[in-house]
Amino acid sequence: MAITFTTARTVPRRATAVGVPVTTSGPVPRSVGLSRAVLTKAGFESKVGQHHLVTRPDGTTVVALGVGDPEKLTDAVLRKAAATFARAASKHTTLALTLTDAGRVDGRRVGQAIAEGIVLGSYRFSTYKRDKTPSAVAEVVLVAEDRRHRSLAGGADKGAAIAGAVTFARDLANTPPVDLPARVLAEKAVELASRVGLDIEVWDEHRLADERCGGLLAVNRGSVEPPRLVKLTYSPRNASGTVALVGKGVMFDSGGLSLKTNDGMLTMKLDMSGAAAVLAAMSVLPAVRPNVKVIGYLCCTDNMPGADAQKVSDTITYRDGTTVEVMNTDAEGRLVLADALILAAEAGVDAIVDIATLTGACVGALGKNIAGVMGNHDGWTAQVRAAADAADEGVWPLPLPAEYRKLLDSEIADLKNVGGPFGGALTAGLFLKEFVGDTPWAHLDIAGPMRSDADEGWLSKGATAFGVRTFVELLERYAAPIPARS
Ligand code: BES
Ligand code: MN
Ligand code: ZN
Repeated sequence: MAITFTTARTVPRRATAVGVPVTTSGPVPRSVGLSRAVLTKAGFESKVGQHHLVTRPDGTTVVALGVGDPEKLTDAVLRKAAATFARAASKHTTLALTLTDAGRVDGRRVGQAIAEGIVLGSYRFSTYKRDKTPSAVAEVVLVAEDRRHRSLAGGADKGAAIAGAVTFARDLANTPPVDLPARVLAEKAVELASRVGLDIEVWDEHRLADERCGGLLAVNRGSVEPPRLVKLTYSPRNASGTVALVGKGVMFDSGGLSLKTNDGMLTMKLDMSGAAAVLAAMSVLPAVRPNVKVIGYLCCTDNMPGADAQKVSDTITYRDGTTVEVMNTDAEGRLVLADALILAAEAGVDAIVDIATLTGACVGALGKNIAGVMGNHDGWTAQVRAAADAADEGVWPLPLPAEYRKLLDSEIADLKNVGGPFGGALTAGLFLKEFVGDTPWAHLDIAGPMRSDADEGWLSKGATAFGVRTFVELLERYAAPIPARS
């Protein structure tokens, strides 16, 4: 169900729930019957994240939404407040949100952030529930008296489109692996590409063999489901450059013969979150129209311990001739990403970003909410960080120390796929770096933020679709990386 966004100068009568952002020191709009004194008495301090419900005599629900210090008001604060409002008012059909306090933030960004917050705060994965009742919210009226009025509407349309992509990625990741093998994800990508207008190519197991994509084939050996490499292309006229997005699409990670524990597998249907993020981000490019060509690669297979599974100490030969000794079949993400990194570098793109639920070690380093970013080019890595900051998705840099490269030395091959017990996020990054040549490349390890344990702000329990909004920001503000390596 899609939510429509409209704008108005006053709260329409049909709205039965009204959200009112309230700062710690600005005026409280009296028109909706709130006053600072009443709110304070109720223990509402206007802190970011706080909300307070008031039912008016006419039955309308007014939700005061704390947005903190007016000097520090950002689109990120408004996105969270909008999500809180959507949750608090989820039983109402028509919502109104007053925006008298958002003066400092650009109108388009306000509209975008609020639409994103409302849609994502209303998200629920109910496909497998007897009760599929979605949030009742069908229409949201953004109420602003000033000139921002018009830019709000454009921003809201864009935010709704982007949030639609985020919910699409969440749905994919939340889908149980029985219903989403690599083959089916590729079919969904084909359907989506023709609907939104992207070029698409799908490589099956035969083509992958012809193209010597050794990583996907090796990881796939233990599975009865075939692998797929999906390549999507968005090409605007007069593109200022070409970016490749590479997503890890491990549909279910059992660990392979290096089998995980049951607990370790519980969230491993989400191991294709990187591929889902790439697919979803690309799906809105024809609407958002960034001025850069984008090639997306989804590396899709599950990682199973079937009779023909790759064995610990087997070797893989890649398209570019690199050989890898597989010392742990559970370090499969890097194996499948390598195929696409080689292809992207070969295609001569100006920059690459990969996104992968790659290492438990990254969760150890940065916790559950923050993704690690690594790369071979400071300027490009900085662009990825800036985009993530703008999208309010937590990202923090980790190093790729040259002196750790020897941890990947293999006795018999060019490298092995694990670097020992320490610095696992970094050795995984160093492994990937081997396949990108001189192309500016950044790597996002989203093992932590792929999942949220709670409904909180614009996050919902389960898959988060982390990275979709970062990618859209990144592509919109893309600047050619200067050809110097760090
Ligand atoms: N998909 C996992 C990483 C992961 C773990 C993501 C927990 C999200 C939550 C990945 O394929 C994996 O198994 N990595 C191993 C690497 C190790 C064998 C070097 C890990 O992190 O334990
Ligand atoms: Mn694994
Ligand atoms: Zn994995």
